[in-house]
Amino acid sequence: MRPVHRLTHAYDETLALGAAFAGVLKRGDAVCLFGDLGTGKTVFVKGMAKGLGIRSEKVHSPTFTLMNIYEGRIPLYHFDLYRIRAEDLFGLGYEEFFYGNGITAVEWSERLEALLPRDHWHVLLKHAGDDARSITISVRGESLRARGLALAEKL
Ligand SMILES: Nc1ncnc2c1ncn2[C@@H]1O[C@H](COP(=O)(O)OP(=O)(O)OP(=O)(O)O)[C@@H](O)[C@H]1O
Ligand SMILES: [Mg+2]
Repeated sequence: MRPVHRLTHAYDETLALGAAFAGVLKRGDAVCLFGDLGTGKTVFVKGMAKGLGIRSEKVHSPTFTLMNIYEGRIPLYHFDLYRIRAEDLFGLGYEEFFYGNGITAVEWSERLEALLPRDHWHVLLKHAGDDARSITISVRGESLRARGLALAEKL
């Protein structure tokens, strides 16, 4: 797949991209977000929530809780691996979510890359000066290949 690349210039544009992206998601999908502090991972997840019919104000990085669950058209499971340890994830029974019936969004995926589902949507965010963010979406794994190819037409 050729990765889909977008440059956003404001919070609202990243929110809108996340919402549009949610339109291609299905139950059981995992979305792994990569990128430095403040690149907009949480904003993108807020957009995904909006696209799934969840009030985006409900979405906050699960910093003190290990994960958040938001009920929408499809439930959204929100993880942030910034401070989490592998044993915390195991204690949580994370596989029930990662391989469950909802959609999983994982911030700071680079922290525990070995535990990510092999097949996932890969979202890389980078600072691109002031309020600009470079956002690249691609897929990993055979099961998402066809949907990855169709992504460009849908965003
Ligand atoms: N184009 C943009 N897209 C998204 N956020 C932007 C943009 N321009 C500026 N911002 C600001 O950047 C910040 C992004 O914060 P956000 O919490 O989403 O980052 P994050 O990647 O989740 O960080 P963390 O690693 O701390 O979880 C917000 O304060 C937002 O207002
Ligand atoms: Mg965040």
